[in-house]
Amino acid sequence: MALGEVVVSATGIEKYFGENHVLRGVDLEVRERETVMLIGRSGSGKTTMLRCLNFLEEPTVGSVEIDGVRVEADPLHQRSRAHQEQIRQIRLRAGMLFQDFNLFPHMTVLQNCIEAPTRVKGLPKGQAVELAESFLGKVGLLEKRDEYPARLSGGQKQRVAIARALTMQPKVLMFDEPTSALDPELVGEVLQVMETLAHEGSTMIVVTHEMSFAHEAADRVVFMEGGVIVEEGPPEQVLVEPNQEATRQFLRRFLGRGAASVPGGTGETAMPILSTGGRGQGTAA
Ligand SMILES: Nc1ncnc2c1ncn2[C@@H]1O[C@H](COP(=O)(O)OP(=O)(O)OP(=O)(O)O)[C@@H](O)[C@H]1O
Ligand SMILES: [Mg+2]
Repeated sequence: MALGEVVVSATGIEKYFGENHVLRGVDLEVRERETVMLIGRSGSGKTTMLRCLNFLEEPTVGSVEIDGVRVEADPLHQRSRAHQEQIRQIRLRAGMLFQDFNLFPHMTVLQNCIEAPTRVKGLPKGQAVELAESFLGKVGLLEKRDEYPARLSGGQKQRVAIARALTMQPKVLMFDEPTSALDPELVGEVLQVMETLAHEGSTMIVVTHEMSFAHEAADRVVFMEGGVIVEEGPPEQVLVEPNQEATRQFLRRFLGRGAASVPGGTGETAMPILSTGGRGQGTAA
């Protein structure tokens, strides 16, 4: 699918937690309809990067522009009201999904979905309900509209959280390991919804450890290590034939148990390949 205008543009993002220099100059551009997956080992800065994009974390250095709203880092916290408003505008444009869903337990599925659109965006209730129902239908949960979250499975909760985020009609959806809190048998239904969104042209940034999902659904994979982007490109490059030794090492270690190397490769050039439902070997060969 053809990509559109640049929606997200982060420039020179650095982040310190005390002495800990966690992000060391990250530039990231995401275009309309593009799905970008962030991968890398634990502690490489993926979550921090995502949180810096919508100012859940304050970048120490750099700037973020989302759909024309630009905010500079303000490490001394001298934000004016105008700056605060810009951050609010950024958050309206960048919907964030978390591992633990964050649904309101005292509200039904439908109420969860219409709360922010009506209160934060001022959408008329009827319109919010219409949108919410269409997105609940999209994630396959319209029949649960009057149910409370406690009566849903983890996979259903995360799908509701996705419908809720979509009802805000953000320019970009950002996911931080959306399936990592789920029992293995519930992971697939959530990834399926996300893959559909990706193929239908949603703009998404996804932190994930699900490599075969990244392989199927990403337009671009970004590999981070030590707070910088080491390599980025189409999944066939980054996940199958990476250019950088660091990427190869990560994939080898990551896929160690389930993956093989390209038959006939030497120790040095053997590539990690993905054991994804029949595609892995063929893709790598
Ligand atoms: N709120 C915080 N305060 C202090 N240090 C933090 C905070 N959040 C993250 N860090 C540190 O920043 C570094 C990067 O963490 P981050 O959570 O971004 O990694 P990650 O790539 O998302 O890892 P994982 O795959 O385990 O989720 C780590 O060293 C972590 O300890
Ligand atoms: Mg993380």
